[in-house]
Amino acid sequence: MISKAVIPAAGLGTRFLPATKATPKEMLPVVDKPAIQYVVEEAVAAGLRDVLMVTGRNKRALEDHFDKNAELEDLLEKSGRHDLLAAIRHSSDLANMHYVRQGDPRGLGDAVLTAADHVGNEAFAVLLGDDLIDSRDPILPRMIEVHERFGGSVIALMEVANSEISRYGAAAISVTEDADVVRVNDLVEKPSAAEAPSNFAVLGRYLLAPEIFESLRTTKPGRGGEVQLTDAIQVLAKRADKGGPVHGVIFRGRRYDTGEKLSYLQSVVRMACEQSDLGPEFTEWLKTYISGNAVSK
Ligand code: G1P
Repeated sequence: MISKAVIPAAGLGTRFLPATKATPKEMLPVVDKPAIQYVVEEAVAAGLRDVLMVTGRNKRALEDHFDKNAELEDLLEKSGRHDLLAAIRHSSDLANMHYVRQGDPRGLGDAVLTAADHVGNEAFAVLLGDDLIDSRDPILPRMIEVHERFGGSVIALMEVANSEISRYGAAAISVTEDADVVRVNDLVEKPSAAEAPSNFAVLGRYLLAPEIFESLRTTKPGRGGEVQLTDAIQVLAKRADKGGPVHGVIFRGRRYDTGEKLSYLQSVVRMACEQSDLGPEFTEWLKTYISGNAVSK
């Protein structure tokens, strides 16, 4: 039974400066919740209530968000704002939150390695905060099923355009009898379009066997001079046991990328349009705005 999720949240957020000078990028709002809350909710919805967040400097806001705020609760209680009270209680009751600090940010692989003591000798999930998965198209339950069937490790993959593959880890795959499951034979972190073994990109969801830690300890800095998680999983992909084999679940659902300014804005707009309360009015306004008739309010 997989019960632990690790969420790396130690990145410096340089793409969003100056917004992220004093605020973790994971706390940037996506409509009405910080981006990181969607990720924790996704883990919890898949039964992973033990959440370890790997943080760095500027961690306070993250911890505070998932903690109780007695003063605010009291105020909302007294003023009869029960809807808001429920909303702020929801984020503190959501999961069993734990935190570890990365120290020197030496890459995603290094961030995952700081989770070793907390995770121990069991398989666990890693969820990257830049990718938000629509709660109507969950992928973790399918990954858990595939893990139960084949053991080893499981990663989420998505098909991207050839021109996009250099932004991701890319997988060399072979098919299995299930249309949405592949065997991962090799992985390359951020290859050029010409070098990429396929157009199947690593999406930020992983179920990893504990052997990943031993692999990470011996992984040399790779792309960008950082210890890459992709490189450590690539070692497991060559094994039949001890952390391998590695399977991929192909994700074809709705996903929102909040990792870059443009994709972040697109994600906010898409998600706002889909909200039952804000959506209709916002969509109407957007149509008017696009057609050049925006009213200034
Ligand atoms: C990380 C991983 C990469 C993966 C991507 C998914 O890259 O290293 O393999 O494809 O997440 O979002 P990052 O976006 O952190 O540079």
